[in-house]
Amino acid sequence: MAAALLEARDLCKYFYEKKNVFPAVERVSFAIREGETLGLVGESGSGKTTCGRVSVGLYKKTAGASLYQGRDIHRMSKKQYFDFTKEAQSIFQDPYAAFDPRQKALDIVAEGIDIHRLAKNGGVRRRMVVELLEKVGLREEHASQPLTVFSGGQRQRLGIARALAVNPRLIFCDECVSALDVSIQAQIINLLLDLQASRRLSYLFVSHDLTLVRQISHRVAVMRAGRIIETGETEKVCAAPRHPYTQALLAAKPIADPELEAIRGREKLFLTPPEKSGPVPGGGCSFYAQCPSALPACGKAPPPLLEWEDGRQVACYQVS
Ligand SMILES: Nc1ncnc2c1ncn2[C@@H]1O[C@H](COP(=O)(O)OP(=O)(O)OP(=O)(O)O)[C@@H](O)[C@H]1O
Ligand SMILES: [Mg+2]
Repeated sequence: MAAALLEARDLCKYFYEKKNVFPAVERVSFAIREGETLGLVGESGSGKTTCGRVSVGLYKKTAGASLYQGRDIHRMSKKQYFDFTKEAQSIFQDPYAAFDPRQKALDIVAEGIDIHRLAKNGGVRRRMVVELLEKVGLREEHASQPLTVFSGGQRQRLGIARALAVNPRLIFCDECVSALDVSIQAQIINLLLDLQASRRLSYLFVSHDLTLVRQISHRVAVMRAGRIIETGETEKVCAAPRHPYTQALLAAKPIADPELEAIRGREKLFLTPPEKSGPVPGGGCSFYAQCPSALPACGKAPPPLLEWEDGRQVACYQVS
C-alpha cells in the first residue's frame, strides 16, 4: 500500500478556557494517500474543523502527531512549514472574510504566487492567474473585477483557483460548498473531482453533509464529540453502517424543500443540538443517551475504535 501523504496519529486538540478544558479533538488517527479523498463528517460541533486545522498545522496540537510525507508538521522549522504550505492548501466556506471586498480577483488568486515568488514578472503572474481562472470555469475578464461582483459559486471557484496557484498536492476543504445551492454544489464537486483526476490531488474534505461527502470521498471518517466513531471505505460504510450513530446519520431524511435546502448550511443538524454533542460527563460513548442499543458499559467508558477484517474501524461495544 502506498505511503500516506498526510497522517494523523492520536491527534488531540484541547481548548482551555479559564479552568475548563474542552477536548475538541480526542485521539484522532487517519491517513490520506496521494490521489485520495478522506471525508470527515459529523454534526455541528463534533470537531471536524478543529481536526482539519490541527492536522494541517493551522492550530497547534495538544498531543499526538500529524505527519506530512512522514515529517511531523508541528515540529517543522519555519522554512519547512513555509515549504509545506506550498504543498498543502486550504479552502474554507467563506475564504474572503479577511479580504477587502474591493480587492481584485487577480490579486486574490495570485496570493500564493506572490508569497512563494512563483512569477518572474507581472506579465507572467497575470498569465498564470488567467490560466487558473479558466481552469476553474471563470474567464479572463474576471481577473480585474472586485470580489463584490462574484456570486457564491464564483467565489468558491476563486478559492479553488487560489489554492491551485501554488500547485499543491493536498487541499483541506472545510465546508467549501456548504453555503451553495445544490446545483452549484454539484458543479464544484465535479470540478474538484476533475482536478483530482488530472493532478492526483488529495483532499481532506470536511462537511456536515453526508450526501456531499459520499459524492467525493474514497474513505469516510464519522466524527462525534471529538472522536472518530466509524471509518472505512465510503461505499462500505454507507451501504452497511455499523455504528448506531452512523446508522442514524444515514437514516436522517434529507430536507426536500429547496428553500430550506439553500439555507441549511451550518444550521443543518442531524440528530442532536450542538450543546449536547460535547464530551460526555463520566466519559462514556457520546451516543449513549440516544443509542437504541446502549449497554450499561457504554455510559462508563468510550468504546475503543477497533479494526475489522475488512479494514473498517468502529467504536461500539455492541458491534459484532
Ligand atoms: N477557538 C476555540 N476555543 C474554544 N472552543 C472552540 C474553539 N474552536 C472550536 N471550539 C469548540 O470545539 C468544538 C468543535 O468545534 P468545530 O468548529 O471543530 O466543530 P465542527 O464539527 O467543525 O462544527 P461545524 O459543523 O459547526 O463547523 C465546538 O464545541 C466548539 O465550540
Ligand atoms: Mg466546522
